[in-house]
Amino acid sequence: MNAAAQIIKTHVGIVGGGPAGLMLSHLLSKEGVGNIVIEKRDHETIRNTHRAGILEAGSVRMLTDTGVDGRVLTEGHRHDGIDLRFNGVSHRLDFQDLVGESVWLYPQNEVFVDLAAARKRDGGDVRFSVTDSEVLDLETGVPKIRFTDADGQYFEVHADIVVGADGSQGICKKAIPAEKRSDNFIAYPFAWFGILTEAPPSAPELIYANSEHGFALISQRSAHVQRMYFQCDPNEDAGGWTDEQIWDELQKRVDGPDGFTLKRGPIFEKMVLPFRSYVCEPLRHGNLFLAGDAGHTVPPTGAKGLNLALADVKVLFEAIDSFYSTGSPELLDGYSDTALERVWKAQNFSYWMTSMLHTREDQSSFERKRILGELAGVAASRYGQQYLAEAYTGWPHR
Ligand code: DHB
Repeated sequence: MNAAAQIIKTHVGIVGGGPAGLMLSHLLSKEGVGNIVIEKRDHETIRNTHRAGILEAGSVRMLTDTGVDGRVLTEGHRHDGIDLRFNGVSHRLDFQDLVGESVWLYPQNEVFVDLAAARKRDGGDVRFSVTDSEVLDLETGVPKIRFTDADGQYFEVHADIVVGADGSQGICKKAIPAEKRSDNFIAYPFAWFGILTEAPPSAPELIYANSEHGFALISQRSAHVQRMYFQCDPNEDAGGWTDEQIWDELQKRVDGPDGFTLKRGPIFEKMVLPFRSYVCEPLRHGNLFLAGDAGHTVPPTGAKGLNLALADVKVLFEAIDSFYSTGSPELLDGYSDTALERVWKAQNFSYWMTSMLHTREDQSSFERKRILGELAGVAASRYGQQYLAEAYTGWPHR
């Protein structure tokens, strides 16, 4: 370490300034628990990283009830249902009727913008564009974070607790010795091709479409910008597709006797999203706690990633708050088990939605027809619809 390192003493050192890290910092600061957030990317890069766009009601409440911002309610769109589409026929699931809940269409990068603005407004200590970060002494009472800030100054954070909210490729999970964690992982033989287009909405709500040509998701962003995805090969080169080819591919997957036609427009963003399911167990090592993608990843079908991260943060915040207000580590000791209970339910839901909606190249006629039977079973049954609706809108936060 450089001799000129400046020491920062605080309660909680948070690695990762995405929505999970910033939300935790926001909640802790409100209760007077000192914290610092370090993030290797700059604000603009995160703001322009397009991710999923669906917030569970519980996630929305975390933003509005804790004073982050109410923008989600004014600029986001409440959706009371989705369409499941298969054999070219749409089946609407009415979430309000089924489970009395809704979701909000509000993109993850806007959640980040709101949280970063709230941290700034409230005087939070958030360092973007840091380099050379490392975490150490995790099994001791003074876990540490080292980093170099955007001005080239070295720092060493001395905390009681370090939180890894640094995403699936972050440094924190890797700092847990391999023999101290179990990595539960599966890969999928496909990915999503995601686009942003300047076009009017093709539908008022999301359409999750299964077709013999593969899955497609018709989502929205605003009156003028739409988000859509279609199942593709994980090695697909997004740059190799013309707008027309993309529209034709999407249209093929939603074609049906109802004549549903996508409203086309110029495509201004194309990306391939990888698919994986992963859970690190436990979500704790010494005084390091993992939250969000740092500890688990879900495939995007069902949009559970950010929602799960915020649910982790809620549990972790309550545990840390309880530790400082009562001196008892009981809730901290229970964090991993408590968070994992929801994580595994969401893993199952994301896996189920993925396998029910996508097609595999080597699929037998039996498997193809079995999936259609599964979709028909869900769509025709109030119980089946209710399970999907309950999981999609989000199990209650504890
Ligand atoms: C979006 C992404 C998802 O993965 C999903 O299930 C629903 C919506 C989106 O980006 O709009």
